[in-house]
Amino acid sequence: MLLAFSTWSEIEAVLRSSQTIVIPIGSCEQHGPTGLLGTDWLCPEIIAHAAATAGNALVAPTFNIGMAQHHLGFAGTISLRPSTFQAAICDWSRSLARHGFRRLYFLNGHGGNIASIEAAFSEFYADASFAGSSSQVLLKLRNWWDLPGVGDLAEMMFPVGHGHHATPSEIAITQAAYPASIKAVSYAPRIAPVGPIHDAADFRSRFADGRVGSDPGLATPELGRRLIDAATASLLDDLSAFENERSGPRGARD
Ligand code: NI
Repeated sequence: MLLAFSTWSEIEAVLRSSQTIVIPIGSCEQHGPTGLLGTDWLCPEIIAHAAATAGNALVAPTFNIGMAQHHLGFAGTISLRPSTFQAAICDWSRSLARHGFRRLYFLNGHGGNIASIEAAFSEFYADASFAGSSSQVLLKLRNWWDLPGVGDLAEMMFPVGHGHHATPSEIAITQAAYPASIKAVSYAPRIAPVGPIHDAADFRSRFADGRVGSDPGLATPELGRRLIDAATASLLDDLSAFENERSGPRGARD
């Protein structure tokens, strides 16, 4: 079930039996010469929407702009600075908590978001901690590639050339879901260089075409479909474990 295609009264009814919601979260940033700018929000959205169809997951609108300052040297990238991003995550979470959601599961598609999402969770919990109360709300971050079984599958598919940015696994997932948007070029070098990440100008000078350590030419829609199927099943299992996770001393599930 997708929140955006529901009415308020439908969501109010859902909340009587389940207080868990998935929030796909990513980034709008360059993904090399063939990767879509939306890759990092498309991947978690594709997986979460598949879980909404295959199971009974409720999925929030996708949080599609993240912390991508280092990609701003490439056209089309849109970024929030970490403090803005954290504030927005807190307000999303407070909005959902106000309605009665108690398990907020952020399915993330961008490594550069991780530090800010974790900091935002601490900000959120700090409200209750300083007030001496229990927030009753649990927040969880899961990167889609860390869903149990998915990372191993990607490693088996791409033992060489997976890399860190514009990876064949993320490109394959978008190819499977949006075959009309598949692009092709000859990559030079075939496997992109690796190195540290600092600001946008430094990134562009180190990584000329935007890739980091990857060979996206290995991606195929068929491999992407297998990754989506594995991630969807794993997400549904992970969600059900999260739903049953114990909350604070005044939680309903103690
Ligand atoms: Ni990415």
